[in-house]
Amino acid sequence: MTKRVAVIGAGPSGLAQLRAFQSAKAKGADIPEVVCFERQEDWGGLWNYTWRTGLDEYGEPVHSSMYRYLWSNGPKECLEFADYTFEEHFGKAIASYPPREVLWDYIKGRVEKAGVRDWIRFRTPVRMVTYSEDSGKFTVTAQDLEKQHTLTEEFDNVVVASGHFSTPNVPHFPGIEGFNGRVLHAHDFRDALEFKGKDLLIVGRSYSAEDIGSQCHKYGGKSVTITYRSGPTGFHWADNWQELPLLQKIENKTCTFQDGTKKDVDAIILCTGYLHYFPFLPDDLKLRTHNRLYPPKLYKGIFWEDNTKLIYLGMQDQFYTFSMFDAQAWYARDVILGRIELPSAERMAKDITEWVAREEALEDPFQQIDFQADYLRDLCQATDYPKFDIDLTVAEFKEWEHDKEHSITGYRDKAFKSPCTGTMAPVHHTPWAEAMDDSMATFLASK
Ligand SMILES: Cc1cc2nc3c(=O)[nH]c(=O)nc-3n(C[C@H](O)[C@H](O)[C@H](O)COP(=O)(O)OP(=O)(O)OC[C@H]3O[C@@H](n4cnc5c(N)ncnc54)[C@H](O)[C@@H]3O)c2cc1C
Ligand SMILES: NC(=O)c1ccc[n+]([C@@H]2O[C@H](COP(=O)([O-])OP(=O)(O)OC[C@H]3O[C@@H](n4cnc5c(N)ncnc54)[C@H](OP(=O)(O)O)[C@@H]3O)[C@@H](O)[C@H]2O)c1
Repeated sequence: MTKRVAVIGAGPSGLAQLRAFQSAKAKGADIPEVVCFERQEDWGGLWNYTWRTGLDEYGEPVHSSMYRYLWSNGPKECLEFADYTFEEHFGKAIASYPPREVLWDYIKGRVEKAGVRDWIRFRTPVRMVTYSEDSGKFTVTAQDLEKQHTLTEEFDNVVVASGHFSTPNVPHFPGIEGFNGRVLHAHDFRDALEFKGKDLLIVGRSYSAEDIGSQCHKYGGKSVTITYRSGPTGFHWADNWQELPLLQKIENKTCTFQDGTKKDVDAIILCTGYLHYFPFLPDDLKLRTHNRLYPPKLYKGIFWEDNTKLIYLGMQDQFYTFSMFDAQAWYARDVILGRIELPSAERMAKDITEWVAREEALEDPFQQIDFQADYLRDLCQATDYPKFDIDLTVAEFKEWEHDKEHSITGYRDKAFKSPCTGTMAPVHHTPWAEAMDDSMATFLASK
């Protein structure tokens, strides 16, 4: 009987899994039946922007954490699909830091070409996954939201590609319940214009903090204060910015920080990260981790150690994104197809322990980039995923780190070389700080 594989999520990771199987099929391989369950009405995961926040029209949690005017925060060259380049999709070389709509279009272009849309059941969230030792199969229970009915089917493998930047991590600060202003998590941030003319407090010091703060500054925020737990960002911010140690308490509009500083603000945005959240998995199959480069219990960062028929994609903290998800999906495909044999439980445990120990010894972002590149190389050498210049992407990521140190509002004005085609990107026609229109049409126009 034909094997069946369930893929949970049609974001970049789940779509990588579909494309991996379809590319093997195109080369004549006998592939399993692949069924992808997607909660949203369309593909693209976080890149599928919605104006909605909270719950959607079916009462489902809104998945996307993206907002208006969001631009790529790393060079697009470092995420390029090796089997479907930007030049192939757009018919020309494009600038290195595209806005969200352009990247969503690129993600969609590859899977439209592959013709895998009818492998996906949209508006069908997975509610439960169980595994039977007797049958050696998983039972997946999902709900068809439009037809209002629940379905249950058996699968040989389950691929969890449901993302981990959607369920907000929301810490409490004393007095926050009495704050006289708006409090929200980055997940619910949509339009920086809401904060025009306002004094803003950003909690957290990572990517959401720096980007949401920059957005609000760009679109007319009066002042931005960043409050950090583990040290300032160290970037050169504008004069109306301030970085302060952690928020201690709030009284009405007045915030008091660890060093005794007091400041009145109009709004508080919690850029405090996300939870790995899998309500559809039982305890013995559930990955428990914070946002890190090598979550434990995943062999090759993919296979659940206690039951390797359960596969997780994209669960790592991410320098590399799309190309790393591809590398994982191709590897997972080859294990499912029997092209790669998994080693003994002892060897898998030893391998995980070594990677985790290496990750825990990393001291700075440059070492972290090298680490994730080594991980990517390890996966890519084992499959027929098209070769691309990983060394070049490492150099580009390190240059990107320097660019940000040099100018946090100007780093997106740089151009990089494609690791797939060798083409140098053009410099964008408008500096990011002046580009108020983030539409694809304006981005792709020559001026
Ligand atoms: C604000 C923000 C900005 C980002 N910007 C960048 C960037 O500029 N560049 C970059 O490379 N990366 C960026 N990222 C990182 C992002 O994680 C990846 O680009 C990518 O979207 C991850 O893909 P994924 O498929 O693993 O997860 P997701 O994109 O989260 O997709 C997961 C999919 O699973 C579906 N799903 C979830 N639960 C269920 C369920 N129970 N049943 C069925 N379907 C389900 C969701 O609806 C979703 O479609 C950003 C992340 C955030 C939060
Ligand atoms: N394209 C874009 O421009 C863009 C914009 C936003 C986000 N993103 C992407 O989105 C992903 C998630 O980024 P993220 O910044 O949301 O999450 P993140 O990188 O996981 O960072 C979470 C931040 O929250 C802080 N934090 C957590 N709990 C806290 C607490 N109790 N008190 C104070 N601070 C706390 C952490 O502090 P510590 O540092 O002390 O741990 C950290 O700074 C990344 O992949 C990023 O690239 C991209």
